[in-house]
Formats: sequence, structure tokens, C-alpha cells
Amino acid sequence: MIIVPGSSNAALAYRLSRELGARLAKVEYRRFPDGERYVRVLDDVSGEDVIFLQSAALSPDEYLVESLLALDYLKEFARSVTLVLSYFPYARQDERFKPGEAVSLVTVSKLIRCLGVDRLVTVDVHRHRVLDMRSLVGVPYADASVMPHLARYAADQGLVDVSRLVVVGPDAEAEQWAELAARELGVPHAHLVKSRLGDREVEVRVSGGIDVSGKDVLLVDDIISTGGTVREAARLLLGMGARKIVVGVAHALLVEDALVKILEDGVEEVFSSDTVPNPTTRVSAAPAIAAAIRSFGAG
Ligand code: R5P
Repeated sequence: MIIVPGSSNAALAYRLSRELGARLAKVEYRRFPDGERYVRVLDDVSGEDVIFLQSAALSPDEYLVESLLALDYLKEFARSVTLVLSYFPYARQDERFKPGEAVSLVTVSKLIRCLGVDRLVTVDVHRHRVLDMRSLVGVPYADASVMPHLARYAADQGLVDVSRLVVVGPDAEAEQWAELAARELGVPHAHLVKSRLGDREVEVRVSGGIDVSGKDVLLVDDIISTGGTVREAARLLLGMGARKIVVGVAHALLVEDALVKILEDGVEEVFSSDTVPNPTTRVSAAPAIAAAIRSFGAG
């Protein structure tokens, strides 16, 4: 088995190679003078089971084109190709909310299907309205989760008092992540309800009975982009008497000054996985990705 790293996240590709005991290939990535991408895989991948890893966040167009070029080459020579999209780009536009909108999740999924990769692994993929990603991409598929690892990190580092901890998702879709994190620590979980008003504005409200008074709250989500969601949820929970809020997130994009604003709003700590390297990265997604790859019986 050989890991071919995309240019987005060499550190995660290295950690995955250590987890799987696989070789890490060398690849040349550059641009032609006219701006087009150049990809050259320097190791011989003939007859190999190849894992191509890309975290296509923050510069999604660039990483997407690079992945298409690399995967098409790898499919020609390797015995099998597993695509690990540790950050799946364009997943948040998963529906046509207004007439005329392109549905980018579907388009990217079609590209993956066209390339004929043998398997796809994602990490806590944004899955709000599309619940069946496997049918969408049309190949054997696994979604690895870092949520148990984030929860374990919070407990082991003493960021929360587990005896009075509630794990909360900021919207209904985040309940799945709150459940995974809560199960790891054997604590209760709940979720809030969110309405999106614009790219940067959301409204978060309480649904059903949720009591956080005097409790430590581990707020978990798949993505922090502008921080609007986490900030609104944290304000609400602090207003309900929560003792402290810490935030654990799979993919911390933290655009503009999101991190500062979240901390200014009273969140004590933000920590994230290494799918998108950033100042809050504390936990590696490599063990979860390796387990997902092994579940296919490929490593
Ligand atoms: C979508 O709803 C996701 O699960 C996140 O809650 C969202 O992407 C966060 O975006 P922002 O940080 O801009 O509110």
C-alpha cells in the first residue's frame, strides 16, 4: 500500500502512512506559467493499492483540479485507488435553495464517480439534507469520525469536568456528532435548532428540554467557517447558565477573524482535528481514517 499525498495536507498524509505502515510517495506539484496545475507522481505506483489523500479546504478549486489530475493518473497505473477526502469540498451547497443554483455537492460527487475511484473515505462529512452519500458517489464509501477523539481529548486534558458535562450540537444535524462524542464519555447530549439567515448570520434557539445550568458544555460541530453558528450557540448556552463552553470541531476553517470572535464571546477553548491544519489543531484524524480504510479490508 502506498499513500500519495495531495498538496493540501502533507502532515496528515504522513500520519496516515504511519498508522497504516504504508509508504509515502513523493509528488511534484506546481503551476505552469499560465496558472494551470502540473502533477507528477515520482514513485512507481504500478500494481499498488494507492490511497490518495486530499483535504480540499480553503482553496477548494485548486485542490479539486489537482485531485482530478492525480486521480486520473493513479487510476491508469495503480491496482486500486482509495480517495480520502479528509475535507470534502463544496459539500455545504447540498440543495437548490433558490431557482438557478448549482448544487455543488452533487457536481463534485459526479466527478468522483466519473474518475472511477475504487473507494471513498471522508471525515465527518457535511451531511445535512443528503443522508445517503454512498448512493451519491456510487462507490464503496465510509465516513470516519473524529468526534470520539475530540471528546476524549477534552476529558483527558481536563478542559471539561466529565461529571457535569453535556455535549451539545448547535443544530439538528449536529446531533449525530454530539451523540458520537457523548457516547465516548458516557455523558448526556442534546442539540439546538438553527436557521441560516445568510452566509454569516444564523439564528439559534432551544428545542425541547435542555438543561445546561451549572454544567460544562462541549459544543461540537463538523465545520467552523465564519464562526457564526458556534458564537450564537455559545451565547445562548451561556445565557441559559452554562458554567463553561469548550468547542470541538472536525474541520476548523476559521475564516477571517472567526477564532478571536468566538473567544471574545466567552468560549474558553476551541480545538479541532488536523483535517484542516490551523492554530486550534490538537487531534489527528489519522487513526479514524486508518480504521475506515481497514474496514474495506484494504489494509
Ligand atoms: C453547517 O450548518 C455546518 O454544520 C456548520 O454549522 C456551518 O458550516 C458553520 O458555519 P459558520 O461557522 O459560518 O456558521
